[in-house]
Amino acid sequence: MSVKTIEWRADSVRMIDQRLLPAREVIRVCRDYRAVADAIRTMVIRGAPAIGVAAAMGVALGLRGFSGARARTRFEVVARTLKATRPTAVNLAWAVDRMGRVLGENLALDASALYRRLRDEALAIYNEDLAANRALGRHGAALLRDDPLTVLTHCNAGALATAGYGTALGVVRAARESGRQVSVIADETRPFLQGSRLTAWELRKDKIPVTVIADNMAASVLRAGGVSCVIVGTDRTAANGDVANKIGTYPLAVMARRHGVPFYVAAPLSSIDLGCRSGDAIPIEERSGLELTEFAGRQVAPRGVKTFNPAFDVTPAELVTAIITERGVARPPYTESLAALKRGDSTD
Ligand code: MRU
Repeated sequence: MSVKTIEWRADSVRMIDQRLLPAREVIRVCRDYRAVADAIRTMVIRGAPAIGVAAAMGVALGLRGFSGARARTRFEVVARTLKATRPTAVNLAWAVDRMGRVLGENLALDASALYRRLRDEALAIYNEDLAANRALGRHGAALLRDDPLTVLTHCNAGALATAGYGTALGVVRAARESGRQVSVIADETRPFLQGSRLTAWELRKDKIPVTVIADNMAASVLRAGGVSCVIVGTDRTAANGDVANKIGTYPLAVMARRHGVPFYVAAPLSSIDLGCRSGDAIPIEERSGLELTEFAGRQVAPRGVKTFNPAFDVTPAELVTAIITERGVARPPYTESLAALKRGDSTD
């Protein structure tokens, strides 16, 4: 995709404001870690790997001008602020902790050398995510042999949700690059509309055919036939293969099983949390009820009505056909296959 999701430039972090897409392409510039935290919290930037990259860059900005013991104290504050923004995507905490380790190893540096070192680490996280997406895209394209290939997806697990290229949409892009005829059916993804606004926008930019459906149409579409597979991303996958992803993913997995359609998860290893034994241990973010009672700024439910707005759900591992990572494809039982991939064993 030609538009950059996030970019480090001249001691600032630039992000395309995803709240305004597809109507307007506006770049937000964050010059300190609080602005980065705000951008993550308010969904200027979203998607697990993308907010991990943003948080890493936020740490670098937050530590600018600090060294020695003061840097250590400052990191505690910066890390706490960034980690509190969104709890479900493990990439965010993972990236902040990685920055903390690099800080700990370099406390002897003066302030400007330490800042450069942290900036370079944040850029390494960015570049590694891009490389992971391309690699998992290749593994996914090798796994899915249909031509034409029709992929049903939920939310946005594309270039906009990552450093670039995408996870679920990375598989789509790689299949297209391998010469196959690929098309996508995008769930609208209530209530924030990542599917109709963002997935449709970035696929159209790349001239990949996309059809938007409302979430409640997926069962009929799967029943009608013609869908090769479902591919989604993940914010955190537990050691046993339970998958936390955008609310609405779990019913999609149930429907896919009912209709005999394979259900794949595309995930960089940074989204797999072996510290969570099962999905029960994954914290699920609850967002403001205004996302339900208002639509594009207009009230669509009675003022003051009670709401419940969990941003993610957990799909049990038994409904997941395979998990596509940058080191290869994990199959059930996931407790063994995911641990092996995390250790560095390749499935090639
Ligand atoms: O609330 P969001 O838009 O940040 O949720 C994003 C998702 O659920 C994505 O599917 C997930 O982060 C994987 S992105 C490669």
